[in-house]
Amino acid sequence: MKHKGAEILICRDMSDISRRAAELFVELAVGVVEKGNRFSVVLSGGSTPRALYTLLASHPYCERIHWASVRLFWGDERCVSADHPDSNYRMAREAWIEHSPIPDENVHRIRAEMENHELAAEQYENEIRQFFLLSLKEWPRFDLVLLGMGEDGHTASLFPQTRAVQESSRLVVANYVDQLGSFRITMTAPAINHADTVVFLVSGHSKAGALREIIEGKHRPQLYPAQLIRPSNGKLLFLVDEAAAGQLTRIDSN
Ligand code: 6PG
Repeated sequence: MKHKGAEILICRDMSDISRRAAELFVELAVGVVEKGNRFSVVLSGGSTPRALYTLLASHPYCERIHWASVRLFWGDERCVSADHPDSNYRMAREAWIEHSPIPDENVHRIRAEMENHELAAEQYENEIRQFFLLSLKEWPRFDLVLLGMGEDGHTASLFPQTRAVQESSRLVVANYVDQLGSFRITMTAPAINHADTVVFLVSGHSKAGALREIIEGKHRPQLYPAQLIRPSNGKLLFLVDEAAAGQLTRIDSN
């Protein structure tokens, strides 16, 4: 079902979301690699994508991907060490990366453990620019960006009423999140919006109110930063389960 340029696919449950996301991942990866290109993916943190990452490390998905051509990035990271339980990198490494033949040099984690958060953001932005051979004025075009959504309508680490929500020129910033009392390193909305395909994975009743606001509500991105995500020349897909879609008024089940 389409709504304001976004495609919304209502899945049965989390495992249905994960399976559809895994199939889309493989389909996109095969298409990009067949053209002789590298497949650049931005991973989401949080808990929702864990099942997807586990699927991608397992049969039949793992065998269908040419891992040497896959490059992994992160949309955001907590300012903790890489082996901290809260690390988004650690979650993906344990669920997927350490069980798949992806070369270490293809994994571009955010060094968010650095004391200097601004420098961590700057270094990650430079790493992205180098990868895409970008000049200062150009934006990266990731093949696929995976995003989650919080109950407050945040995505990546673009939290309501935080400075990063207004950022319009940087690719990556350090963002102090009052609600958490801590810094996060996050990609910005414009960095995400230049991607070829952006997919939200949203599961559970607790997300239903925010999802309704984001898809059907007034445009208030300060309050619902996920509303900022509108690819300028790319596809936007919401893979949501019936529980999360429970308050949507204008969407039929698929
Ligand atoms: C993070 C994520 C964040 C996450 C949402 C949803 O670092 O936490 O990037 O944006 O996707 O908070 O989290 P859950 O999937 O755990 O509900």
